[in-house]
Amino acid sequence: MNLFDVYPLMPVTLTHGEMCRVFDENNNPYYDLYGGHAVISIGHNHPHYLSRLQDQMRKIGYYSNSVQIPIQKEVANKLGALSGYPDYALFFCNSGAEAVENALKLASFHTGKAGIISFKKGFHGRTSGAVAVTDNPKIQAPFNQGHQVEILEPEQLGTVEDVLKKGETAAVIIEGIRGVGGIYVPSPEFLHGLRALCDEYGALLILDEIQSGFGRSGKFFAHQHQGVQADIITMAKGMGNGFPVGGILISPKIEASYGLLGTTFGGNHLACAATLAVLEVIEEEELIPYVAEVGAEWKKQIEAIPAVQSVEGLGFMLGVNFDFPIKDMRKSLAMEHHILTGVSANPNQIRLLPTLNLGKQSMDIFVEKLQTVLLEMQLI
Ligand SMILES: Cc1ncc(COP(=O)(O)O)c(C=O)c1O
Repeated sequence: MNLFDVYPLMPVTLTHGEMCRVFDENNNPYYDLYGGHAVISIGHNHPHYLSRLQDQMRKIGYYSNSVQIPIQKEVANKLGALSGYPDYALFFCNSGAEAVENALKLASFHTGKAGIISFKKGFHGRTSGAVAVTDNPKIQAPFNQGHQVEILEPEQLGTVEDVLKKGETAAVIIEGIRGVGGIYVPSPEFLHGLRALCDEYGALLILDEIQSGFGRSGKFFAHQHQGVQADIITMAKGMGNGFPVGGILISPKIEASYGLLGTTFGGNHLACAATLAVLEVIEEEELIPYVAEVGAEWKKQIEAIPAVQSVEGLGFMLGVNFDFPIKDMRKSLAMEHHILTGVSANPNQIRLLPTLNLGKQSMDIFVEKLQTVLLEMQLI
């Protein structure tokens, strides 16, 4: 049987990982500055993560949400304390798209409305509602196009208000820091403006923190840099450090009722053990202040490289912009210098999404290798 051929693959086969490095079948090390697409938060095979998962697996790996699962409460308590949202409720699911789907559905239940506002170049996933609020017609099938969605230019509060005025909007959804569409940090004025407009017109504000959350930006959630409070927050990726887990944080103003949301696998014992391990390591290793501090230094170092036009983003969610396409440079970084980086919808941008405990030495190696590649390719 063939695999359904939807991914363009690099000619690399990875056999094991160790913190910020991964190794191929010939034991060649690669620096993982892509974190497997912002997923590896506390590092490949972190010892505490391994022992939590192994311990849990020996006890019980799964039972359905029809019985008490105390480890879910443990995760909720720690997540509430570390994220600064202690009075919000947690609903578990299994992926980013599923988190978005549940957030949109919940906003619609709560408001009794069907309309959603999202933003140009935003990415929210590939399931029915998530892909409908994503600004990419190429990944929307006719089946996904029946939703009541307005995709607007970011930073333009006037057009948002024009739509909200119609009174049909359940929620506004925006990424804490835009990832797939090219790194962009929404301005504080814009986020505060959205908050005020949502309050005025009775819509909910959903912050999609699937990529930018769990410490990646140097705050627990990226929107906390702007001091804005969300009604629903979506999470996945770094939450499980590779274990498939997602979730939403829900404002106390939204009421739960039996059967309103549900899932077979969401919140299973192993997913909770993985999430708890991530939260414990983030806390014990003080990774959030570390990312804030060294991420800002790294950004400056990269900005000083000749040919770099600008560096967007915060913490360890950075987009390095050039005035030429980065495709060949990124390939050379990966295949010849063994540094894995990410792309975005912007063909001139390299995306950096490393593990939150990436050492300063690894940051220097990236700066050095990037300059080497630029020289080799006669771009500086
Ligand atoms: C901001 C954002 N939202 C949602 C998703 C979808 O997550 P998943 O691929 O886990 O469904 C992604 C994935 O890249 C994302 O970056």
